Amino acid sequence: MTAAVDRADFPLLHPVTGRVIEGRPVIYLDSAATSLKPRAVLDAVAGYDTRYTANVHRAKHTLSEEASQAFQDGRGQVAALIKARPRDLVFTSGTTAAINLVALGLGFPPGSNVVGTVQDHHSNLLPWYQRAEVRLCPVDESGTVDVDRLLSLVDGNTRIVAIGHASNATGAVQPIRAIADALAGKAPLLVDGAQSVPHLPIDVAALGCDFLAFSAHKMLGPTGIGALWGKAERLEALGTPLVGGGMVDVVTATGFTTKSLPYRLEPGTPHIEGAIGFGAAAAYLMACGMDRVAAHDALLAERLVHGLAGIPGTRLLGPPPGEGRLALASLVIDRKVAADHVAMILSDTYKVMARSGHHCCHPYFDAVHASGALRLSAYLYNTVDEVDTAVAAVREILATV
Ligand code: ALA
Repeated sequence: MTAAVDRADFPLLHPVTGRVIEGRPVIYLDSAATSLKPRAVLDAVAGYDTRYTANVHRAKHTLSEEASQAFQDGRGQVAALIKARPRDLVFTSGTTAAINLVALGLGFPPGSNVVGTVQDHHSNLLPWYQRAEVRLCPVDESGTVDVDRLLSLVDGNTRIVAIGHASNATGAVQPIRAIADALAGKAPLLVDGAQSVPHLPIDVAALGCDFLAFSAHKMLGPTGIGALWGKAERLEALGTPLVGGGMVDVVTATGFTTKSLPYRLEPGTPHIEGAIGFGAAAAYLMACGMDRVAAHDALLAERLVHGLAGIPGTRLLGPPPGEGRLALASLVIDRKVAADHVAMILSDTYKVMARSGHHCCHPYFDAVHASGALRLSAYLYNTVDEVDTAVAAVREILATV
């Protein structure tokens, strides 16, 4: 079974020149941590670095105009992927920075609270812990939140509801539209889309949230760049939490006026080649088609959960077989052998790259009484054969340790 894209597009997976370790081709199953990059993204970044290096939106010379155009095209491509207007998309250094930007700009009167879930990533917890009482809704065994239960935590002092769309720990996908409908504007809704935007078709209007945060490096793009999309009035209300060059219009001896959005929220020289690479990644995904990406994900997900279910002394987290999830499976190993040890054998012996640990989700792992899990996470460039090989390797290791 083939991948959803041409694997030759990805230097690390190229059938002839791809990475081989000790005679075995690498099987990369750690895309929830960071994805591989296609040649189109590498070329887009190199194009800026080698042919039109210049700062953006400042000079009138040719190279600066080319760089500014490519930067803006990048914004347009990323916005198009989530069916948004470019002016509502702010570049940040990643999901974490995007969430922190909202936390900085929102303002938290005494007595404020923030509502989220126990399964949320630390990046979507810590910015709120610093500012307000945080109310975490439990998730059920499949990793899904009950909308009524979540809403019961919301009151007049709820400053924001901040929730991960898809879990990096379980692969569960939350019912964001239902949450938005139930919230009915009682509080703004921020969605951490770090795992969902790379894998699912997203239309921000249909999703119904107020903010969406995501990162390029989990969706074929460079590290160090991400985005915050927001409804125009919500972005306006963030004010100017960060200031400096690039976001100002006029500076006098006593003050300054600011540019319009999105520039107002992007002080300093931006990550120009990152934005250009991010745009190329979004374009690559759109050319593949997000429905196709999601369908391939679903196929690999079923293969993973069916393959890993029922191993004695282990627990598979998240939705059971047959229920939707990202192409990601986390296996808690309730035995003497640690998940880290299994991950090491997978890498050293089978050349399968998989992550182990708590996946930046301590509260969730506490809730399921586990110190961590072995996680296999696949993407559009993985084949069913790769997943089957990895699953067989996990089974073989667990049969012997
Ligand atoms: N949050 C990333 C992961 O799940 C790093 O691995």
